[in-house]
Order: sequence, then C-alpha cells, then structure tokens
Amino acid sequence: MARLRTLFTALTLSSLTHAYIAPISTPSTHIANNDDDDNSDTPLPLIIWHGLGDNYAADGLASVASLAETVNPGTLTYIIRLDDTASGDRSATFFGNITLQIEQVCEELAAHPILSTAPAVDALGFSQGGQLLRGYIERCNFPPVRSLVTFGSQHNGISEFQSCSATDWLCKGAQGILRSNTWSSFVQSRLVPAQYFRDPTQMEAYLEHSNFLADINNERVLKNQTYKKNLEKLERFVMYTFEDDTTVIPKETGWFSEVNGTEVTLLRDRAIYKEDWLGLRTLDEKGALKFEVTGGGHMTLDGELLAKVFSENYGVYGRPFDGQKETDYPREKEL
Ligand SMILES: *[C@@H]1O[C@H](CO)[C@@H](O)[C@H](O)[C@H]1NC(C)=O
Ligand SMILES: *[C@@H]1O[C@H](CO)[C@@H](O)[C@H](O)[C@H]1NC(C)=O
Ligand SMILES: *[C@@H]1O[C@H](CO)[C@@H](O)[C@H](O)[C@H]1NC(C)=O
Repeated sequence: MARLRTLFTALTLSSLTHAYIAPISTPSTHIANNDDDDNSDTPLPLIIWHGLGDNYAADGLASVASLAETVNPGTLTYIIRLDDTASGDRSATFFGNITLQIEQVCEELAAHPILSTAPAVDALGFSQGGQLLRGYIERCNFPPVRSLVTFGSQHNGISEFQSCSATDWLCKGAQGILRSNTWSSFVQSRLVPAQYFRDPTQMEAYLEHSNFLADINNERVLKNQTYKKNLEKLERFVMYTFEDDTTVIPKETGWFSEVNGTEVTLLRDRAIYKEDWLGLRTLDEKGALKFEVTGGGHMTLDGELLAKVFSENYGVYGRPFDGQKETDYPREKEL
C-alpha cells in the first residue's frame, strides 16, 4: 500500500491531469434569478462533490459556492468532504473504497440539520464527483436530489487511467502497475479511479470485479430496482462534456456513451437505456435528461456558463423547468 501510494502520488503530481477547479469570477452581465415574484421563497440547498485531486477548502470551490448564492440568493451550499482536513479530503479522492465513501456521505447528509429537513437538494458534480453523486442518489437519496448537473464525469467509466508525457518514466511506471492490478480486490478496494475503470474489451473482468461502476450502472444480471427508482425521481439530469477533453478517456463517458476502439455508441443506442436498467430512458422521456457540451479541456469552467447552469437548473422548490409545466411538480412541503 505504501509503495502504491507513493507511486500514485508521484503519478498524479507529475501529470497535469487533475480535476481541479480554478477560481471562477462572477460574470459582469447580470443573471436574473427565476423567481422574482415571491421573495419569501428560499432556493433549495446545493451540494457539490469535487473531483480527483481537489479538496473541499479550495478557493475554486468557494468561488463556485459564492456564484451559486449570487444567481439564486439565499442558497445554502454544502461542499462534500470525506475528511475534515483539506489534505485528507484530497487524499480520499485517490484512495479509499467508494462504497464506504458513499456510506459516509449518506450518513453526514442525513444527519445535517438543514439539508435533512429540506424537501430536496440540488447537486453539482465535478468530474468523478458526478458519478459519486449518482451513487449517493441511487443508494440513499436522503435528502433527495432534484436537479443533478455533472461536468466531465465518467458515467460510463474510463478506459485509460492518466495520460503521461512521453518522457515521464515515473508516471508511465505507476500507470503500468495500476493497469496490471486493476481487477485485484486490493486495488478495487483502495484506488478510487480503478473503481470506475471500464474497458469494453475487458467486460468479463469488469462485471466480475468492478467495486463501483458495474454496480451503480446496473450492468450485472441482477438489477437493483432501488437504483432505478431513485434516479427516476430526478427532475433534471444535465450532463456536460468538454469538447477538447484529453484528460478523461474517453470524454464521451460524460454522456454515458460507450467507445469501443473508434466506435462511439450513444446512450440511446445502448442496452442500459433501451432496457432502462437505470431509469435514464424514463428521465429522457419526461424531458429531464440533457446532453450538453462546452468548449475547452477538462474542467474549463467560467462564471458565465456556471451562472447559466445555476439559473436553468437550481433555485426554488416547485419551479418549472423548460418544456415542463410547474404543475408536474407539486410541492409536498414548504422549505
Ligand atoms: C439495492 O440497493 C439498495 C440501496 O443501496 C440496497 O439496500 C439493497 O440491498 C440493494 N438490493 C440488492 C438486491 O442488491
Ligand atoms: C468495499 O467495502 C464494502 C463495504 O465494506 C465491501 O463489501 C467491499 O467488499 C469492499 N470492496 C472491496 C473491493 O474490497
Ligand atoms: C469491442 O470491440 C472488440 C474488438 O472488436 C470486441 O471484441 C468486443 O466484443 C467489443 N466490445 C463491445 C462491448 O462491444
């Protein structure tokens, strides 16, 4: 473990492939919130799960939280953490058993005095934080999520761990070790990215050993109906990919596409959708599933894009979304 940790740290420090959010500045153009008619309405709280190599105390995430409050005034933002120290939280993006990590988050959110009493929360997942939030929704969903937005997430896994530069021998060496041990239970219970590794040419090993992705994507013979039922409760599931993403391989995973060599199979053409293992087809048919793309490399975010996303998908409970009538979503409980 110590050896693996050292190598993996070297790997991630020496390559530039982090899902780290740079500080966002508030856009100069005013973004109106959607609910000027009733000032007593408080927006739903927003939970954010950050990506690999980032930590809950980072300036970039604080700027995202502050923008959420600017766009929907009164928003309580909660940045998910797996450790109270920034370095421990960062380390947990690389190391740990995702099953246990999600259990921990489920317990913390369910015990949170404000989040647990809200009728629902909104959710924002950056990179791997997107599929982790989906795991939270499928397995616990208390408090329940209304709108989930993911940026550059690996919903259909990754088929490469990291890209190393040509002369980065340490990086390449570490990558080799990870790759050769990907399916061992040692690696599956300790290295986070290995738990969403999915190479279409290794489906048998994946279905047998994947500690996380094969399970939450309901790819095994026995489908968990709770996962489907919980995901179908979303009112919005918006998936952003980055046009020039070279960090996430394949980048199409952000839309649940499967890439086999050079062939890209879109979600709507896959069994996971056609047989509706996860409720994605149900979401799509009610107009709740959105495929979006933005320019730039992995995690190239700016305030204008985020403000648009926050205004379109977050805000008060019971608000209408484009293409859907407000009456589709009756309020069960006031905030
Ligand atoms: C399905 O998932 C739920 C929530 O995690 C769990 O309680 C249940 O045991 C799972 N069912 C099966 C058949 O694995
Ligand atoms: C991860 O933790 C869960 C819960 O303790 C356990 O059932 C599972 O076997 C662990 N995964 C691996 C690959 O060891
Ligand atoms: C991907 O392509 C390989 C080689 O053509 C093939 O063996 C494999 O079955 C394909 N996998 C899937 C999931 O389509």
